[in-house]
Amino acid sequence: MQTLVALTRRVSPRIAECELTFINRQAIDYPRAVQQHSQYQQLLRNLGAKVIELPSDDQCPDCCFLEDTALVLDEVAVITRPGSEARRREVDGVAPTIMKYRNVVRIDSPGMLEAGDVLRMGRNLLVGVSTRTNQQGIEMLRTALKAYGYEVVAIPMKGALHLKSVCTALDDHTVLADPRHFDAGELSEYKLIEVPAAESMAANVLRINSAVCIHAGFHQTVDLLRAKGFDIRTLDISEFLKAEAGLTCMSIPFYASST
Ligand code: GLY
Repeated sequence: MQTLVALTRRVSPRIAECELTFINRQAIDYPRAVQQHSQYQQLLRNLGAKVIELPSDDQCPDCCFLEDTALVLDEVAVITRPGSEARRREVDGVAPTIMKYRNVVRIDSPGMLEAGDVLRMGRNLLVGVSTRTNQQGIEMLRTALKAYGYEVVAIPMKGALHLKSVCTALDDHTVLADPRHFDAGELSEYKLIEVPAAESMAANVLRINSAVCIHAGFHQTVDLLRAKGFDIRTLDISEFLKAEAGLTCMSIPFYASST
């Protein structure tokens, strides 16, 4: 019996000091962020997940964005080495839990990889070459996963934090993206739906089985996807958007045989 597990991590009281790369700092309302995080966890439960919440590391303002610390596949997990030095110690708070479920491999120096840059489409792993993920990290990922039959494709990024900031899966064959940030030719084998230009960050949706979760404020994208028949679930993550984060950043979902 396989159970859908979603690892999450408590919001740091210092989230207002989070890393920012391409957006300007705005005030983050911590109590509101905590409330939105709790609603996010409830949405995951409503979609059938067993939510596990790891404690926050108050030295790490970005720790609730644990997606970046590990790539969990069916056969193995990759413990990353974040390109952001400020975020590197976040890995220590997540890896022991991952190791209860999967054998792990690690990305080592000089490799850098944040799993927000890794979009899995079946056996293909599309990996953004970004300010957080370098070619050495991608090569280490490719080498580590070759035996498992994964193909790793590097996609140079411009003007966006992670590949999944601007490109995520709607289903096994369709991606939602803002192609101003990378060469969309790399995705030619998939159907591409472009987000409306005013809603670039709407391209980060969280797919849980057939449900597609999206920030409620991205009205144009919500309407577009509903009109195309997707099973859309909305929730407000306004405080996390100010932290240059999205829905995928706040969980690591995977199937496990015993929990
Ligand atoms: N604040 C999210 C990040 O920069 O990693």
